[in-house]
Amino acid sequence: MCGIIGYVGKKNAVPILIDGLKKLEYRGYDSSGIAIYNDNSLSIHKSKGKLKNLENKIEGKTLYSNLGIGHTRWATHGEPADVNSHAHTSTRETIAEIHNGIIENYLELKSFLQKNSQCVFKSETDTEIIAHLIDYFYEGNLFDAVYNATQKMEGAYSIGVICKDEPNKLIGVRKDSPLIIGIGENENFIASDIPAILKYTKDVLLIENNQFAEITKDNVKVFDNDKNEIKSKFFKVTWDEECAEKEGFDHFTLKEIFEQPKAVHRTLHHNIKNNEIHFENINITKDELKSFNKIYILGCGTAYNAGLIGKYALKKFAGINAMCEIASEFRYNDPIIDENTLVICISQSGETLDTLQSLRLAKEKRAKILSIVNIVGSSITRESDYIFYTLGGPEIGVASTKIFTCQLMGLYLLSLHFGNLLRRISDDEIKFYINELISIPDKIQKLLDDSEKIKQIASEQFQNESIFYMGRNVDMEIAYESSLKLKEISYINSFAIGAGELKHGTIALVKDETFVISFATQEFLFDKMISNIKEIKARGAYVLTIVKDECKDISDLCDKVLKIPYTLDIFTPILSIIPMQLLAYHISVMRGNDVDKPRNLAKSVTVE
Ligand code: AGP
Repeated sequence: MCGIIGYVGKKNAVPILIDGLKKLEYRGYDSSGIAIYNDNSLSIHKSKGKLKNLENKIEGKTLYSNLGIGHTRWATHGEPADVNSHAHTSTRETIAEIHNGIIENYLELKSFLQKNSQCVFKSETDTEIIAHLIDYFYEGNLFDAVYNATQKMEGAYSIGVICKDEPNKLIGVRKDSPLIIGIGENENFIASDIPAILKYTKDVLLIENNQFAEITKDNVKVFDNDKNEIKSKFFKVTWDEECAEKEGFDHFTLKEIFEQPKAVHRTLHHNIKNNEIHFENINITKDELKSFNKIYILGCGTAYNAGLIGKYALKKFAGINAMCEIASEFRYNDPIIDENTLVICISQSGETLDTLQSLRLAKEKRAKILSIVNIVGSSITRESDYIFYTLGGPEIGVASTKIFTCQLMGLYLLSLHFGNLLRRISDDEIKFYINELISIPDKIQKLLDDSEKIKQIASEQFQNESIFYMGRNVDMEIAYESSLKLKEISYINSFAIGAGELKHGTIALVKDETFVISFATQEFLFDKMISNIKEIKARGAYVLTIVKDECKDISDLCDKVLKIPYTLDIFTPILSIIPMQLLAYHISVMRGNDVDKPRNLAKSVTVE
């Protein structure tokens, strides 16, 4: 959601801002804009719709500035429109500002300003209030004015601010919305995410919640909420710009699907040595683990689906009965939490508000937090006691693909480690399981090598208006994830169901040619699945079944059979999701959809 970029330096800010906004497009947006300092005034350019509209608007204008801010907006308050796009300025046009988040008390602040200043409101946004409020406090020192304004603001915000009277300065503030600072040579940046600045620098400062940055081209000062200057964490980005480029693939989503062997391999091998598990940031002792009488796994969307599978792994390997809950429900459901609770938060972005707020609720009640996150330094990691980083690299496509399989790898390792700590599995057994995990990246590769087969199925089914998925045990959970993947990028109506639950109502939907994808990878449930497949075949369904390589031949029972390489039942989800991601991808392309940026969706959901 909303993307922020800011520049102060020696170069022309305009192409840097536009380029940065392009790199942030993946976050989802419906309008964009920039503000630059030019010729003793602030010049604002904004446009509804795609960035191209903004580019067209500024094309031919000779815009040059060494200072500027840019923004992609995902509408919350006020429809997508030029006037509601950021940057917003104060009435005197002294201050320009961009914002990611929501100002919860903006109506109260608006009436305060209407009573106490001459300001005139132009937009329907909560954001505009910030520019007026900063100007209200401005007495020749931009930093102080921003600081004073934020003391009145409630809600979530990362903001970037520039001022006509201080054309060498950029101010950034972070509170509950992401913001990083890029350190360059004779230039510095602010941004919502690293890809926006990677072309110019790999040196990043991570600022924390309620911190303020005063940035010039040669200097960055970071202050806490009491205006004490502090030293922030420095972070060197280890991946390069190409990782955030398509590298010859038609879409980021496809590139990321194909990156899975490497991403999963990295996530696994970073945490094992001589077939033993060694975590960098998880030092839970046996006694501590034993003291937890409750373990929750929380996440949203795909991260939640990964958690559902993690629940089975924890039970199988560690004998732990964890509860997996959707973060947006969990926190409004009076969860029973105390100091003997462990909460496992799963998130690609590390910024999903529902997951973050659930984490905070759990922390308030003294639970310990273990997070499985992809983005280093994100809010969720900063507030966690233990961290497992998925090492998937940047995931730009809105549909989570490679990070899902990395999350599964993380959950398998964690479950094995807990099982070993509790002596539920021996050192020899753990070596056996790790060996099996080591074989996974090659097996994923094998499935990817067969992708043409999936494209063929997509070409037969892309005009279908509904596709159902069913399975049992972990196959049911992978059915959920497959269905979510299809829905979000193909816009086809889809649901997933536990196969045994079909005849309790849903089978009424099955008629001639209903396309059903069934998963029958669990050896102990194979016969049960066969009965379920027969039930729907008898009602005319067209059935595609996913099975393990060496399973019994069921080709006369199903319309199509897709084989995944052999692995242990518990590990099959990390393989069976691959053809399902490819199917969703190809169907989406064939339907002419914007695969990387599906309608109405944002990569990182930082509002409730
Ligand atoms: C995944 O394909 C979705 N775009 C979405 O469900 C996502 O997984 C969810 O919003 C959670 O995001 P997070 O992992 O960044 O917390």
